[in-house]
Amino acid sequence: MRILSIFLLFIVFFSCKKEKSSVVESEIVVENNGTRFRESYRPQYHFTPPEKWMNDPNGLLFYNDTYHLFYQYYPDDIVWGPMHWGHATSKDLVAWKHQPVALYPDKLGYIFSGSAVMDLENTSGLGTKENPPMVAIFTYHLMEGETAGRNDFQTQGIAYSLDEGQTWTKYKDNPVIANPTGIRDFRDPKVMWHAPSQQWILTLVAGDHAKFYSSKNLTSWEYLSDFGKDIGAHGGVWECPDLFELTVEGSDEKRWVLLISINPGAPNGGSGTQYFVGDFDGTTFTTAQKDIKWIDYGTDNYAGVTYNGLPDSERTFIGWMSNWNYARDTPTENWRSAMTLSRKLTLHKNNDYYLKNYPVAAINDYSYGSNTYKKITNNYSLTSANFNEMRIDFEIEGALHDFELKFSNIPNDQLSLGYDMEKDVFYVDRRRSGKVNFEPRFAKKVHEAPAITDGNDKTTFSIFMDASSIEFFVDQGATAITDQIFPNEPYTVMTFTSKKHELKNVKVSKVKRIWE
Ligand code: FRU
Repeated sequence: MRILSIFLLFIVFFSCKKEKSSVVESEIVVENNGTRFRESYRPQYHFTPPEKWMNDPNGLLFYNDTYHLFYQYYPDDIVWGPMHWGHATSKDLVAWKHQPVALYPDKLGYIFSGSAVMDLENTSGLGTKENPPMVAIFTYHLMEGETAGRNDFQTQGIAYSLDEGQTWTKYKDNPVIANPTGIRDFRDPKVMWHAPSQQWILTLVAGDHAKFYSSKNLTSWEYLSDFGKDIGAHGGVWECPDLFELTVEGSDEKRWVLLISINPGAPNGGSGTQYFVGDFDGTTFTTAQKDIKWIDYGTDNYAGVTYNGLPDSERTFIGWMSNWNYARDTPTENWRSAMTLSRKLTLHKNNDYYLKNYPVAAINDYSYGSNTYKKITNNYSLTSANFNEMRIDFEIEGALHDFELKFSNIPNDQLSLGYDMEKDVFYVDRRRSGKVNFEPRFAKKVHEAPAITDGNDKTTFSIFMDASSIEFFVDQGATAITDQIFPNEPYTVMTFTSKKHELKNVKVSKVKRIWE
């Protein structure tokens, strides 16, 4: 009898326990709804998907006072899978509203990266002049074809929306560009309107080079030319091209820029984005460029492209803030990956051409609670409850000498950045920045960037730090280093060291969170 009652007690105890834990679970769900996007490492002023896996930005388009951001999305898991296009909109390129998933895989394949245009003249006939179609141009990736060992499983398709991206219809005669002769990597079409030749120009990548096509109506495409087999970086496959014209700042000179992402083969490992400055005559892209130029020397700015539909003077870029080396392994739970801040691209010429990329001016409206310091000298430390939702701006006068800023916290994670005079590089060192062991290449080395500045007497610096990223800019993006970080707790101390320098006009600001 006694044994039986002990047994019964046990059963009661365990069933209560079970019940209790399920109550706790449901409480957690309620709490998550109440404190939206406050999970650990969730960026507070960078775009992230509501949940699950995201990679490249797609279909960047400005129309009717709204910025559209589509993105590679797998809504069922936090690792890459059958690709959809997720969708979000913004009025200022900083705060985003999540929208319904735009494009789903179909019998022609997964929906890989691509672009979007407003077909204002209804050249495609897919809408009307009164209600012109928004047209998405993307790569179909037929998984069955790939697993069967074929080489022609990537083709280009289009879809259109007559309600500003809310609902989409796939074009009935897809694909619009078939795979020519079995090119395994044949993808990521970027389309733009080319006014001088009055036609649409499509740039895509084919393994080790870019291909250009033209069309009068977005549905039938004619091959134009190839670029890049023997030029630029070739440490990996070419991906996510973008072609556009920019005026050199302070002049009337116009040049064409071609962005090419490459994976692997970036300067600090894995995925990165190179660019070429040259000419495009409506058929062929040419360049006299000899060296290899990179948009960003951090390891977490990939597959970045620019908006269609903006005035010529505005070229706005956004990149995926991750790297194929470790994108699937980062220590987040409900979602994976963020985008970089939206950045303005400008073209400059000193001896040579260089592109700057720097957060759009709208981000300035998100600063609050700023503290300013006329100067900060060697070994000075500032403290804050949380440097991870902050922006820090400062200046250095005169020729650059060694300096370092180190962010740390109670568990003694350390994130450093600065300038190394002997090597003439800026750097970010995240090797001891917090959680770094989830993939060996994440913390393998210091990320160094050749020190590109405007060459003025005064050098300006900006640091944007969010829950799991740092974006470090010199001279408004002449040098950029973007890196993910996963500190065990937010950084609370910032220490400056330099034998030669003072930091001038230091401004430390909090940045408003963008989620409701
Ligand atoms: C770049 C990329 C693209 C491809 C997409 C698939 O990160 O590999 O080339 O279209 O991701 O998700």
